[in-house]
Amino acid sequence: MKRALVIYSTKGGRTEAIAQCIAEGLGAAGVVAQLRNAAEVEGGADLEGFDAYVFGSATYHHEMMKPARQLLSLAENVDLKGRAGGAFGAFGWSGEATDVIFETMSHTLGMDMVSEPLRIQSATAEEDSETARAYGRLVAAKLPS
Ligand SMILES: Cc1cc2nc3c(=O)[nH]c(=O)nc-3n(C[C@H](O)[C@H](O)[C@H](O)COP(=O)(O)O)c2cc1C
Repeated sequence: MKRALVIYSTKGGRTEAIAQCIAEGLGAAGVVAQLRNAAEVEGGADLEGFDAYVFGSATYHHEMMKPARQLLSLAENVDLKGRAGGAFGAFGWSGEATDVIFETMSHTLGMDMVSEPLRIQSATAEEDSETARAYGRLVAAKLPS
């Protein structure tokens, strides 16, 4: 059974809701997904042993949230090179966090990323939920069965 780790950083809960839907999409594709808040990740050991990683943060003041930044620093000390990855986040108007997370996972961590990050701006919750589930399935499709 393939395993994925979905980690989010949120203040208002929107990015957590997206993370839950991504985990559902992974599950629907037969991947066991573990969901965690970035603020609760304690060390690099928490990141070891998964086939795919999906990291996300809401954007505040044009940046990712602090727990997401700390998560990426921790991830530098774990060998995630070549592992499947995706990035996501809720935003209001500019959404830098999602892009920076995606680029860091790709360039610094050397991960095998899906084609693009999942940026959720609209308030149409039901439509966004399905988009996020589809993103989970997209990450799952990176994993050889
Ligand atoms: C104080 C504050 C600053 C914000 N700064 C940005 C920003 O720089 N760029 C942006 O796209 N959205 C910004 N937003 C909007 C949030 O990203 C948006 O509300 C998002 O849905 C929050 O996600 P969360 O519920 O997961 O915390 C800001 C919101 C607040 C309250």
